[in-house]
Amino acid sequence: MIAGNWKMYRGPDPRALREALGDLPHVVAPPFTRLSDCVAAGLTTYAQNVHWESEGAFTGEVSSPMLQELGVTGAIVGHSERRQYFGETDLGVARRAHAALQAGLGVIACVGETGEQRESGDTETVLRVQVESIGDLCGTHENLVIAYEPVWAIGTGKTATPEMAQEAHAFIKSLLDVPVLYGGSAKPENAHELLSQPAVDGALVGGASLDIESFVAICRIHS
Ligand code: PGA
Repeated sequence: MIAGNWKMYRGPDPRALREALGDLPHVVAPPFTRLSDCVAAGLTTYAQNVHWESEGAFTGEVSSPMLQELGVTGAIVGHSERRQYFGETDLGVARRAHAALQAGLGVIACVGETGEQRESGDTETVLRVQVESIGDLCGTHENLVIAYEPVWAIGTGKTATPEMAQEAHAFIKSLLDVPVLYGGSAKPENAHELLSQPAVDGALVGGASLDIESFVAICRIHS
């Protein structure tokens, strides 16, 4: 799977993207306001987050049934920007993932260490806590995918080396046997090397997914 996380950017024209993708498998995760346009264009469309309840007094949140009503087929949960800036916890992320899976959505659950944690040798401890809290609630659900996104590599231009990605992915798979995507400054120039690692099953692409040519190029490299 190659998934594009548009973050809080308006992103490319969905119809132009759909046409450029042809038959290439893909997922796009636009901001909430563009979900309908992406679905209408025929793109495989995920939300960037989803709440664990189906409805209730949770201002600012959106539930799985609400997404499904729009034709959205999955959601990212636990992105490091959600954890970092919006206080999302391991338990909250696991609950979001579990509820979405129960509702029938696909889930991309994000994990990853900060630069500081890597430097102090805590990468595996951090990954273990994050992955196990998701695994405890969700198990190896067939619609669950993990995205390994080292926080120090997100939007920084610093990519994990293929060896670092392979090592982290293999470790994650030893804890929870599901597909693992790589995320963090993935672009056409480094996609081939990263995606050819045996434990790298795809990519979660931020910045490069906003450009039709770059995103299509990465999808093509993977196909
Ligand atoms: P990036 O973002 O590709 O811009 O580093 C990846 C992500 O945050 O999912």
